[in-house]
Amino acid sequence: VSTAVPALEAVVEAAGPRVRELLEALERRLIELVSGHGEPLAHHAGATIAAGGKRLRPLTAFVAGGEHADGEGLVRAAAAVELVHSATLVHDDVLDAADLRRGRPTVVASGGRELAIATGDLLFSRAFAELAANRDAGQLRVLSAAASALARGELLQRADAFDATISVERYLLRCELKTARLFEAACQLGAAQAPDGEAVARALGRFGCRIGLAFQVLDDVLDVSGPAERTGKRRGTDLLDGTVTLPLILARQRDPGLARLDARLLSGVDEAERVCDAIAATGALELARGRALEIVAAAKADLPALHGRRASALGLIADGVVERYA
Ligand code: IPE
Ligand code: IPE
Ligand code: MG
Ligand code: MG
Repeated sequence: VSTAVPALEAVVEAAGPRVRELLEALERRLIELVSGHGEPLAHHAGATIAAGGKRLRPLTAFVAGGEHADGEGLVRAAAAVELVHSATLVHDDVLDAADLRRGRPTVVASGGRELAIATGDLLFSRAFAELAANRDAGQLRVLSAAASALARGELLQRADAFDATISVERYLLRCELKTARLFEAACQLGAAQAPDGEAVARALGRFGCRIGLAFQVLDDVLDVSGPAERTGKRRGTDLLDGTVTLPLILARQRDPGLARLDARLLSGVDEAERVCDAIAATGALELARGRALEIVAAAKADLPALHGRRASALGLIADGVVERYA
């Protein structure tokens, strides 16, 4: 298994051979979980899983669980989190009208809206069936809370679409809901498989929430900077679908032309890319990246004292969420 992101490869290395085995078991389990629900769902759900992705949330769950966690429970929890993530990506690409994901056509682009909605629903339902096998209602509640937050976050994003006057606080709230809470769940579910107790699980959840927030801020930087060959997603997608992100908020304060911009009037991908260049020229990307780095630093500073490889691997994950192109 290769995470295709050097910074994450360093995490796997630091976390030890068991995590590599867990990642391999995860891949096998994910494929099993999405097969056998009839064509064409199996085709599209299978292709979504087969397209890969960084598997960052499973990796985070494994590392959060540590060396004494139950392996089978960890794989089920990680698979469940990754399936919720994959489901939301398939639905997200419908909402964002995105045509490229993980370097391939999105389900909505290749199969249409109805199929994309059904594929996301299937992935979503498989997640909860898998987590139920851990026989712990608390774990189901954790995942359900994250999935509910995600839905709220995606709706908040639609509600705020094309409103360039939204505040940084409101932007961060959206990021927390749509992205950070699932990272929080990944950490909590990983910790739930280990014999550490509530306080450690709560602290790891806080850590997950922070690195998830930084992860989304950096994703929003990458939407402007690309390049698509490295991100696997099209540049300027956020501008075109009206998603006002930190780079644009900061750039508007520095460039009067951008402050006057009405993204509804953008003619298409080429013009969106020119606006991305204008945003980059203001220095807003460095500022946004700086904000992500601050959040990562806060996450690391607040980690509980943990033994063995766990603490160092968690620190490397925190660094990895902002040192990436995919
Ligand atoms: C993309 O997440 C969605 C966001 C929360 C920004 P990832 O960048 O983790 O997607 P994959 O799984 O690696 O494709
Ligand atoms: C994250 O936001 C999406 C979800 C949490 C589902 P984005 O819309 O920025 O994610 P990408 O860029 O499409 O992966
Ligand atoms: Mg999107
Ligand atoms: Mg994005």
